[in-house]
Amino acid sequence: MADLNNKKILVTGGAGFIGYHLCNKLSGLTESLTIYDNLSSGKIENVKDVPKATFVKGNILDLKKLCQLSKTDLIYHLAAQVVVPYSMENPLEDFDINAKGTLCVLEKARKDDAKVVFASSAAVYGNPTQLPTPESYGFHPFSCYGLSKVVGEEYCQMYREQYGLDIVITRFANVYGLRCHGVIHDFLDKLSNNPDKLEIIGTGKQSRDFVHVSDVVNALIIVGSKEKANGETYNLGVGKTVSILELAELILTILNLKNRTVVTTTNVSWQGDINTIWFDISKVKKELGWNPKISLEESIKEVIADRKISK
Ligand SMILES: NC(=O)c1ccc[n+]([C@@H]2O[C@H](COP(=O)([O-])OP(=O)(O)OC[C@H]3O[C@@H](n4cnc5c(N)ncnc54)[C@H](O)[C@@H]3O)[C@@H](O)[C@H]2O)c1
Repeated sequence: MADLNNKKILVTGGAGFIGYHLCNKLSGLTESLTIYDNLSSGKIENVKDVPKATFVKGNILDLKKLCQLSKTDLIYHLAAQVVVPYSMENPLEDFDINAKGTLCVLEKARKDDAKVVFASSAAVYGNPTQLPTPESYGFHPFSCYGLSKVVGEEYCQMYREQYGLDIVITRFANVYGLRCHGVIHDFLDKLSNNPDKLEIIGTGKQSRDFVHVSDVVNALIIVGSKEKANGETYNLGVGKTVSILELAELILTILNLKNRTVVTTTNVSWQGDINTIWFDISKVKKELGWNPKISLEESIKEVIADRKISK
């Protein structure tokens, strides 16, 4: 396992979905773990379920508070406004949290000379014409969320070049698993309310690269500990794409509802919605030996068992 045991680690957004899973893993690897989160979407239960961590409730925009935290060696910066439609309705707030907030975290890193692992997104590619999409594709954001993540990435690069900070940028595809939010949970919520009907928002033809949170966490541990990852950008997906209609079919098959549930689509998507997310993950496989292991089917079954939805 990666050597992080002498490192003092700070996780922003550690009370959120991915942050919870990351902190749980990190708590077994380091003696010094601080979770910094304002609980705007994160949950206190997520923090309480992580052993040995210190929790500080705070906003990443509060630079004074961030800098009052004890000196850190490694920062996982996950805190963000993560909802694409919300970013289109509230672009200034989205910019403040995702762009200016990242700058505040980088200032904390500069003060401590800490390494930073930044959580970016497929949204920086927008609607890519190159599929599967490699890291080199470039920025073509399609939503305010995507653009604020681009700005965050650009500040990371600036701090790396000008202040010599060790930075790794990780771009996540669609991350799912226990305690997640998003389309899988939306479908399961709808089906538990009414198993006869499942309405898909959009055409259902939009497709996603679904990656399990434990695979993402393993990658984050690797990039946090390996020097060779410093200065690099990595796509974290599985390198496959599944349409939302196919996802609905898979869930209905697992739940034995295929002959019962009528699937409909609204045909109208939301502003900023991306057609296809399909990552080229050859770089992270080749350079770091990371390989996603958990299948979508396996994980949906895990989520269903956890939610105690009966077949
Ligand atoms: N889940 C995905 O599929 C996905 C995909 C691409 C990128 N990402 C990125 O991964 C990171 C984690 O995402 P997640 O899915 O766990 O989301 P999440 O909403 O569950 O977690 C985000 C956390 O950040 C905290 N936060 C928000 N604003 C804050 C602020 N101003 N100060 C302090 N804390 C604040 C929230 O309370 C929450 O706990 C985000 O940066 C997100 O953009 C996630």
